[in-house]
Amino acid sequence: MLQRLWYPSSLCCLLLLLPLLLRSSASVPTNPDYVACSEPEVLHCGKLNITYPFRLIESPDYCGYPGYELNCNLDEEVAPLTIKLGGEDYAVLNIFYRERVVVVVNSYLLKTDCPRNFINTSFNPSLFSYASYDSNLTVYVNCIFQIMPPQLSEIFCLSNSLNKSYYKVDKGPSTFLDNFQGSCDQTAAVPVYAKQDFVAAMKGGFGLNWNDSLDWCQECMDSGGRCGYNMTRPEDQICFCSDTNRLRSCFYCKQISFS
Ligand SMILES: *[C@@H]1O[C@H](CO)[C@@H](O)[C@H](O)[C@H]1NC(C)=O
Ligand SMILES: *[C@@H]1O[C@H](CO)[C@@H](O)[C@H](O)[C@H]1NC(C)=O
Ligand SMILES: *[C@@H]1O[C@H](CO)[C@@H](O)[C@H](O)[C@H]1NC(C)=O
Ligand SMILES: *[C@@H]1O[C@H](CO)[C@@H](O)[C@H](O)[C@H]1NC(C)=O
Ligand SMILES: *[C@@H]1O[C@H](CO)[C@@H](O)[C@H](O)[C@H]1NC(C)=O
Ligand SMILES: *[C@@H]1O[C@H](CO)[C@@H](O)[C@H](O)[C@H]1NC(C)=O
Repeated sequence: MLQRLWYPSSLCCLLLLLPLLLRSSASVPTNPDYVACSEPEVLHCGKLNITYPFRLIESPDYCGYPGYELNCNLDEEVAPLTIKLGGEDYAVLNIFYRERVVVVVNSYLLKTDCPRNFINTSFNPSLFSYASYDSNLTVYVNCIFQIMPPQLSEIFCLSNSLNKSYYKVDKGPSTFLDNFQGSCDQTAAVPVYAKQDFVAAMKGGFGLNWNDSLDWCQECMDSGGRCGYNMTRPEDQICFCSDTNRLRSCFYCKQISFS
């Protein structure tokens, strides 16, 4: 029992020692890890803020979680921030930290007026998963159907008198990927955010949730810290506070002795 009082769990600590709850607050940050991950040029790219698990590749690797590296190229005015997924460049349109969602679109789709080449999206499933509101837009390029399947909509910018192209939007897995393939040159499933017309849906991109084991970071951010990663101790939830590194949060309980 006494052991427990001397080394209280964080909940005990919160309840019993509330008046002693402190927040590390040096007016001038003295922690080099905190300073390195707080430089204005690695915290922003265009209008987007960048924090853990993401980091710009220019910042030290301990500022983000491995696999969540971003590139910032301010010469690209529309979407300066990009991420590589499955070897492809994706523009980052928005990041919602509390919802754990990043909205991305294949850079090629963003730049073209009428996409002609499609790829099946791929990414590391231990880093990302599709957001719940994503739909599947399946495209069929250059098709010759005896009878046009009624569920499909024509893609006018990809159709001419000889060849027609079509799309269909499904919630969940593409139900059409395996059908009609013999009749079409190309088919692919493209994740999209919303059911809109073809070109708008393509440019709107889709949402990805990042791994929920990284959720702890909000607590650190809310306490004024920056979340970090330690290569030699990857399981540690390090919070870089302005004065020193702590676990999870910059709020801490003053060590007191009952003896
Ligand atoms: C980005 O961070 C700044 C403070 O550094 C804040 O004022 C601003 O609202 C943030 N922007 C977004 C889109 O979260
Ligand atoms: C996408 O995946 C489907 C099903 O695996 C395949 O039939 C199709 O050829 C792929 N499309 C591309 C462009 O790779
Ligand atoms: C999240 O990451 C952890 C550690 O890398 C991994 O074990 C886990 O499978 C991931 N979660 C998902 C849903 O992939
Ligand atoms: C129609 O599709 C065929 C087969 O893919 C292709 O060889 C031909 O160039 C296309 N014609 C036009 C006008 O796009
Ligand atoms: C789209 O369909 C493919 C193939 O069925 C599936 O692998 C993928 O997870 C689906 N994407 C979304 C956003 O549901
Ligand atoms: C990572 O952990 C090691 C071993 O505990 C420690 O020596 C090192 O300073 C830590 N690095 C960071 C960036 O916290």
